[in-house]
Amino acid sequence: MAKDKKKVLKNNNILLGVTGGVAAYKSVDLIRRLKDEGASVTVIMTDASKNFITPLSLEIASGNKVYSSLFEDPMSHIALSRNADLMVIAPATANIIGKFANGIADDLLSTCILSFKGKVVIAPAMNWRMYENPIFQENLKRLISHGVIQVGPDKGSLACGEEGIGRMADISEVIEAIKSALSNKDLSKKKVIITAGPTREYLDPVRFISNRSSGKMGYAVARACLRRGADVILISGPSSLQSPQGLKSFVKVETAQEMRDAVFKYLPEADAVIMAAAPADFSPGKKEKTKMDKSEKLLVKFKNTPDILSGIGRLKRRPFLIGFAAETGDRLDKARKKLIQKNADMIVFNNVSSAGSGFDVDTNKITLIERDRETPFPLMSKDEAAEVLLEVIAKYLRKR
Ligand code: PMT
Repeated sequence: MAKDKKKVLKNNNILLGVTGGVAAYKSVDLIRRLKDEGASVTVIMTDASKNFITPLSLEIASGNKVYSSLFEDPMSHIALSRNADLMVIAPATANIIGKFANGIADDLLSTCILSFKGKVVIAPAMNWRMYENPIFQENLKRLISHGVIQVGPDKGSLACGEEGIGRMADISEVIEAIKSALSNKDLSKKKVIITAGPTREYLDPVRFISNRSSGKMGYAVARACLRRGADVILISGPSSLQSPQGLKSFVKVETAQEMRDAVFKYLPEADAVIMAAAPADFSPGKKEKTKMDKSEKLLVKFKNTPDILSGIGRLKRRPFLIGFAAETGDRLDKARKKLIQKNADMIVFNNVSSAGSGFDVDTNKITLIERDRETPFPLMSKDEAAEVLLEVIAKYLRKR
C-alpha cells in the first residue's frame, strides 16, 4: 500500500483564512503541516493580516496563489468556497468572528465564509479582555450552535504582555480538529479502551524498572479513535505526552497491576480493547518501604505481573481484542503465537529493533495479524499506522 494513501488529509482542499492577529505568523507552520498530512491549502488573507505576515510568505508555503481582494476576480468568493472541503480560520480575530456570527460579508474572507457549505474550524486568538467580552462570547456561542468547530484559545502569556486566555491553540491541536472534522464518524456510540506507555515496577520508593515505551503509539491510536467519534478510555502509564483533545476518560497508572485493575474496571462497557502499552512482564517480588542503601547486597527476586491481554482473552464474553507484539527481529511467528495463546482477535506486530520502528520514535512499521491473514505496511508515522489499524477495526466493530 502506498504510504501517501493513508495520509489522513490526502485529497482534501483546505481553505485557510488568515486574519489580523500576532498569531498570523503561525500560519506558515500550519500550512506546512497540513501539506505534510497530504492536504492542498489555499489561503485568503484579510487586509489587516498583511500587517503581520506577507502574502508572499504564504504563497511560498502553500505553493498556491494567495487571495485577498473581493474584486480582483469577481467570482473568486464562490469558486474558492465551492472547491474547498473544509474552511479553517486561524488565527480568528474578534472582528471576523463578529462578522461571521452576524452574517456580514464585506471582504473576500467573510464572503467566502457565507458561501461555504462545509465544516468551518475557527482558532480564536486575541487579548483576554476581548475574549471574555460578553458580546464576543455571544457571537462565539451562536457560531457553535450552528456547528462551527472551535479550537482553543489557550491560557498563557499574551502578545500584549498580559497573562490570560487568548493564545491561539497549538498548531497540532488545530490540525487534530481539522482531521476530526473531515473524518468519518463510524465509531460513534462505540466504547474503546486503549492502553499506552510503559509501567513502572518499584524496587523501593525511588527506584523502579521500566522500559522505553513513550506512549506515542497508544496516544496515536486514541486520537484516531476520537476522530472517528468513539468514546475513548485511555489508560496510560507514565508519559510526557499531552492527553488527546476531546478525551473524556483518561486514567493514569504506574504499575502493571494498576493498569490491569483500570482495564478490568471499564471492561464491561467496552466494545473493543486495544493494548498498545508495554506493561512490564516482571516486577520485584517485594517493594522496600524505605530507600535501599547502596551498601546493601542487592538480590532481587522477580515475580510475573498479571498478563492483562491473556486475562481478557480468557473471558467468556469479551470485547473485540487487539494486542501489540513488540519483537526484536522479524518474528511474525512469535506474534502469531501470541494471537493464539492470548486468544486475541488481532495482533499488531512491530519489529522494535528495526530502524524507525517501535519504542520512542514517531514512526512504526507494522503488520496486522488476523486469524486468516497477515497484512504488512511500510514504515509510516504512528498517526498513519493508527489510521490503518482503525480502518480494519472499524470494519469488525460495525458487524458486532
Ligand atoms: O509507546 P511507544 O514509544 O510509541 O512504543 C510503541 C510500542 C513499541 C510500545 C508498541 O507499538 C507495542 O509494541 N506495544 C506492546 C509492547 C509489549 O508489551 O509487547 P509484548 O509482545 O511484550 O506483549 C504483547 C501484548 O500483551 C501487548 O499488547 C501488551 O500490551 C500485552 N501485555 C504485556 C504484558 C503484560 N503484563 N500484560 C499485557 O497485557
